Amino acid sequence: MKQYNFDEMIERKGTDCFKWDALPAMYGRDDLTPMWVADMDFRSPDFVMEAIRRRCEHPVLGYTMPSEGYWQAVTTWLQKHYGINASKDNLHFIPGIVAGIAYALLCLTQPDDKILVTTPVYPPFLNLPKESQRELVCSPLKIMNGRFAIDFDDFERKADGCKLFIMSNPHNPAGTVWGKETLSEIADICERKGVLVISDEIHADLTLPGHRHVSYSTVSEAAAHHSITFMAPSKTFNIAGLGSSVCFVSDENLRKHFFGWLDGMGVAGGNIFAFTAAEAAFAQGEEWLQQMLDYLCGNVQALDGFLKTRMPYVKAVLPEASYLAWLDLSAVPTAYHNTHGISHEELKNKLLYDAKVVLNDGTTFGGKDYEHCFRLNLGCPRTMLLDVLERIASALQK
Ligand SMILES: Cc1ncc(COP(=O)(O)O)c(C=O)c1O
Repeated sequence: MKQYNFDEMIERKGTDCFKWDALPAMYGRDDLTPMWVADMDFRSPDFVMEAIRRRCEHPVLGYTMPSEGYWQAVTTWLQKHYGINASKDNLHFIPGIVAGIAYALLCLTQPDDKILVTTPVYPPFLNLPKESQRELVCSPLKIMNGRFAIDFDDFERKADGCKLFIMSNPHNPAGTVWGKETLSEIADICERKGVLVISDEIHADLTLPGHRHVSYSTVSEAAAHHSITFMAPSKTFNIAGLGSSVCFVSDENLRKHFFGWLDGMGVAGGNIFAFTAAEAAFAQGEEWLQQMLDYLCGNVQALDGFLKTRMPYVKAVLPEASYLAWLDLSAVPTAYHNTHGISHEELKNKLLYDAKVVLNDGTTFGGKDYEHCFRLNLGCPRTMLLDVLERIASALQK
């Protein structure tokens, strides 16, 4: 069996990659380590690269369409991993999930409609409703036993009068896996109140050993009836730059409406490499993914161990899926910082200019409630992760 090497350090600077190459323009320096944008610093799998290379041997890159092999690979993956009864007819290619959610908002809701999200959450969930003149309704999550949980009293109250709930399942920013019980409760409330659900399952394949992803549409008839599910190989196989994802709609009426809109507006076509890569990834990716998840699990353990021994004041929500961890630094000992506490801005500057590390600012996931919080991307070689943690620990002690 082939052993993949996730310890390899790969120079990504100079490849126009957002995570590394956007930093000089943002901060005026190029000595920062990016632990923000959610892609991984691992090689994209060799079998994906090989499939793209093979396709490039043909001299014409004209208009394209998904092949039977593509649909076969996608449907088999969804059936095998999540029990989703997908076929070419109830799936639609989507050139990126943020775009897909924007399309769903535009197609299925009207200006001033209320759109529900749970915070903290992936920032586009907050921006898309606002940009499309919908009314954003936020139900804050609670932290219980070191993990995010839905406050159902609040959620049920806020769901009143909402048209749509946009859910990150598993949840970004902390990789929380929602179990069947939680999803069933969401489904009951949304069915009762006539709320459509968008289940963004882009991180599903990154569910770590010991946890199980449940796809929203599979929890009940009602959930299947009132939901749109987005999935993608982009995070799973580190091919996010290709814009390859897929949308599943079980309900026939909803499907006709949404897929008809996508086709009519001409916004959901794919590029040659998006199809080629997705097919290779889903058809050949099981072993690579298993090894990669084992490696990520090791990174989560390394982070956990480091925090417990070196930064016990950090309250962390560690991922159950994905490579994203949520760090609450509000309890940095005041002993390090004279007698007063440290402000969010001071913390940000310390991380940036003393530790030379770029994390995602917690406030971008839901506002001032998330001051002192940061999202850390640990999808990188372990030596890099540990080096960054050392730098953060010593910067915070200065
Ligand atoms: C929950 C979630 N949805 C969507 C995306 C982005 O998807 P895409 O690149 O397909 O637009 C991300 C990327 O971080 C994400 O975390």
